[in-house]
Amino acid sequence: MPIIADAEKRLFTLHTKNTTYQMKADSLGTLLHVYYGERSDDSDKSYAICLRGRGFSGNPYEMGRDNKDYSLDVLPQEYSCYGTGDYRITALKVQNADGSLAAALRYKGYQVSKGKYSIPGLPAVYSEEKEADTLEIVLEDPASKVEVHLLYGVLYENDIITRAVKIVNGGPDGIVLQKAASMNLDWINGDYEWLTFYGGHVMERNIQRDELGHGIHAIGSVRGTSSHHYNPFAIVCERNADEERGRCYGFSFLYSGEFQMEAEKDQVSQTRLICGIHPDNFAWNLQPGEAFDTPEIMMTYSADGFGTLSRNLHRTIRENICRGEWKEKRRPVLINNWEATYFNFTGEQLVTIARNAAELGVELFVLDDGWFGKRDDDNSGLGDWFPNEKKLGCTLKELAERIVDCGLQFGLWFEPEGISEDSDLYREHPDWAVVIPGRNPNLSRNQLILDFSREDVQDYIIERMSAIFAETLISYVKWDFNRSICDKFSMALTAQSQGEFAHRYVLGLYRVLETLTAKFPHILFEGCSGGGGRFDAGMLYYTPQIWCSDNTDAIARLEIQYGTSFGYPVSTMGAHVSAVPNHQTRRIMPFSTRSCVAMAGTFGYELDATKLSEEEKAQVRQQISRFKEYYDLIQHGEYYRLLAPTDRQCTAWEMAEPAGKEALVSAVYHRVEGNAAPVIVKVQGLKAEANYRMHLNMDGLEDMPEEAKEWFMKCLPYGYKEGEMISGAALQQCGLVIPGAMEEYQAWQIHIVEA
Ligand code: GLA
Repeated sequence: MPIIADAEKRLFTLHTKNTTYQMKADSLGTLLHVYYGERSDDSDKSYAICLRGRGFSGNPYEMGRDNKDYSLDVLPQEYSCYGTGDYRITALKVQNADGSLAAALRYKGYQVSKGKYSIPGLPAVYSEEKEADTLEIVLEDPASKVEVHLLYGVLYENDIITRAVKIVNGGPDGIVLQKAASMNLDWINGDYEWLTFYGGHVMERNIQRDELGHGIHAIGSVRGTSSHHYNPFAIVCERNADEERGRCYGFSFLYSGEFQMEAEKDQVSQTRLICGIHPDNFAWNLQPGEAFDTPEIMMTYSADGFGTLSRNLHRTIRENICRGEWKEKRRPVLINNWEATYFNFTGEQLVTIARNAAELGVELFVLDDGWFGKRDDDNSGLGDWFPNEKKLGCTLKELAERIVDCGLQFGLWFEPEGISEDSDLYREHPDWAVVIPGRNPNLSRNQLILDFSREDVQDYIIERMSAIFAETLISYVKWDFNRSICDKFSMALTAQSQGEFAHRYVLGLYRVLETLTAKFPHILFEGCSGGGGRFDAGMLYYTPQIWCSDNTDAIARLEIQYGTSFGYPVSTMGAHVSAVPNHQTRRIMPFSTRSCVAMAGTFGYELDATKLSEEEKAQVRQQISRFKEYYDLIQHGEYYRLLAPTDRQCTAWEMAEPAGKEALVSAVYHRVEGNAAPVIVKVQGLKAEANYRMHLNMDGLEDMPEEAKEWFMKCLPYGYKEGEMISGAALQQCGLVIPGAMEEYQAWQIHIVEA
């Protein structure tokens, strides 16, 4: 039984295959957090919560004068409140009608149901009814009658527990929610560290590991989106945890707006984690009878390090967050014209690139920015979603048909949330832009933001995009968003409601995405925000892939994709082979290396196919055929990080068929050394008793002189020559020797197949 509710003891135990979570309502009615960790039994573990008087930590009145040992300031709780005796960071801050900031939640009841709850208007993990169970615990503040419904979704097989909160104003007066986090998790002991994923434009999701010492530690975004700067994902772990060892907890927020993840180690060295909507730009009015739903957070626990933790999240994102036709269908190999032409193209030029690409096996042509309105640079045109027929030399419909005639599908770039001051849309609806009246707005990339909190704006965008989708043969949409939101204000909200703007904006975005993806299910949507500025599990509910970064340098991508892989599967990471010298870094890397790295993602090209030499064209054909051959492994296999980009020589990763029949190991020499030590990786996920043959992809040898190739073949490590086999046990325990580097940034792909 995944959920065991003992009504009498008011004890709730959630089990997944390998984890257990427990909470208990105590005599006062406080819902205590008791346990989260490796799979355990259903016994009451609340004995471990020691009540002891702590100076300056107050005691609830109801406990009487003799009860100095009971304090909300030190008790582990499921959902802590501001203003009633807990001086730590708290999950809920309510402003009551009299202006007081206080809530004290007491247990009221619970309900268990089959299947996984959903959340109106927000992304949420979903599953077949038999695969998930829901526990809802109701708490109430007796003074204000505010009710808090804590929702827990248990995905047994995935080792995933989700959480969300519904807050209902059951009282007679209006209240304001000043903070409504999605979760609170308290550990009563232990020393922890956390891994957070920071970055910036073209350098997303770098890993930082910090000790959660005494004090408050926080990451978040007040940029309107989840942001490049901190990803809404974190891992809390034991000090010694690594890829294969140690206890660790993952928290992934299904939300694309402003968020905060905070941790505090308190006076008795307990650690609290709170995650939810960032409170800085949040003040939600709740009239009597109204309800507020927080976004969802997905949690997982692994006793065996980060690898298992990531794979739990990968599986769940692939199968229980991504939706629609493109969840299962093979994604087409695309070519995007951005780095080939930027804004400077004609329709004729695009068709020529498409024709050349089609001959190489590319399947989808994506027309990026610049096809609409007055848009020859980033100063104007956003909002005018009408094709620039003069520039294209024909209608968009005709252009799409010409591309389809080349044997390709057609895709199109949009930035629906953007608006340029120099646009017809802005001239017609200046009140649709997000600006604060009487102040000069903050420009970014010379543009403003369209007020997606407004329903009329949402409807306009739905109508405009639907019209284009209906009249043009469109198979793919790149949904971009190229600035952070400052000047938060909506002309459609009252002064008292401006604190709802940031969240209403996200709800508006989700409504538009939900409507369009449901109406046009055959279109593959790819999210983007100046690369990976809105790369979160919320967006993945609507767009099953997201452009990982505007940095297309394969060596820089090793780090970006490595960091991203902690929380997200490769099937979600938009990755392209681009030209050299690379446009962001001027670095020159072998073609085979660029394709190897792009294959740890959705795989496509972002270069001018008309400029490829015959030799390069042959390479592209071969890369595409390899990608198709490895597709299932790449997109659906179990992902293992073998060597980090911080390794001396190589970054290496592996995708293994879930039953262990085959695996693909990829290794890139990010640093080449003279007299280098051999690189050996321990292959994971194979069957110990089976024998395997190694197939080395020789693409990296193509540019080599004949003598070098001969020498290389002579020096090949054991396992790569005709007839040689290695057992799964040996590959796992002793390891696989990666062939050496023949040049800078050499990459190898090794396909390991059961004999
Ligand atoms: C963003 C995207 C790029 C490209 C440009 C177009 O920066 O991340 O891939 O689409 O916008 O303006």
